[in-house]
Amino acid sequence: MVINDNSVLSSRPALADEIGKVAEVAGYLWEKGWAERNGGNITVNITEFVDDALASVPPVGGPVAIGAEVPLLKGEFFFCKGTNRRMRDLASDPMSGGSIIRVMEDGLSYEIVADAAVKPTSELPSHLSVHNWFKAKGLPYKASLHTHPIELVAMSHHRPFLEKDVLTYLLWSMIPETKAFCPKGLGIVPYELPGSLKLAEGTIRELEDYDVVMWEKHGVFAVDEDIMKAFDQVDVLNKAAQIYMSARAMGFEPAGMTRAQMAEISEVFHLPK
Ligand code: 13P
Ligand code: ZN
Repeated sequence: MVINDNSVLSSRPALADEIGKVAEVAGYLWEKGWAERNGGNITVNITEFVDDALASVPPVGGPVAIGAEVPLLKGEFFFCKGTNRRMRDLASDPMSGGSIIRVMEDGLSYEIVADAAVKPTSELPSHLSVHNWFKAKGLPYKASLHTHPIELVAMSHHRPFLEKDVLTYLLWSMIPETKAFCPKGLGIVPYELPGSLKLAEGTIRELEDYDVVMWEKHGVFAVDEDIMKAFDQVDVLNKAAQIYMSARAMGFEPAGMTRAQMAEISEVFHLPK
């Protein structure tokens, strides 16, 4: 990861560490083939790492309308992947592939604080609506990830898989760890235009019950306490999807774990359902 001497990260190790995790995950997304061109985006609430000096630097861009109302985020700071920026570039130099923004007092717009005026992701309405919802719910979540995992997106092109919890149980049943490490399963958001408020609203509706949701024929959106944990949830789900597809490619429908075996996992790992 490159941190140049002028970066706001160079004298702030805790902030650099947090944004370093974003860079590490961005590298994994590229290696997995989930981040073609500028595909996918990440936002992390970094307010706890922002000191008075950083909070008072003059903005380098904005104010710009968010496209959603986020009243609970007034004055909060986020690291955001830049729109049209590549994950693979962010992996090696996060402050040129993304930027730090602050939500303005109106709860409707943001300004860019550092390093350069890199415009945040086009999915900002979804990301910030979700962070606003974390606050409303009193959740400890700080990170949101949108990515294009190949096998999961392929499965979203099959209508029967989009019925409630069909994919959740299918994926859980492929390998025991899936349920243990993605215990709420996979919610489904019917297709909406990328970057739209409708997509943000559909995402929040599903996050009431799930930590990972499928954006039909597009990608997934995952939330967790930090970006590494959000990535892990998508990774275990996509691994299960790969196992399902490998079995189908060998010419058979995989048997899957039984409901009783999955119930046993829930009991041993103290899972909700
Ligand atoms: P951005 O480059 O604006 O982040 O868009 C990528 C994407 O995946 C949109 O859904
Ligand atoms: Zn996308």
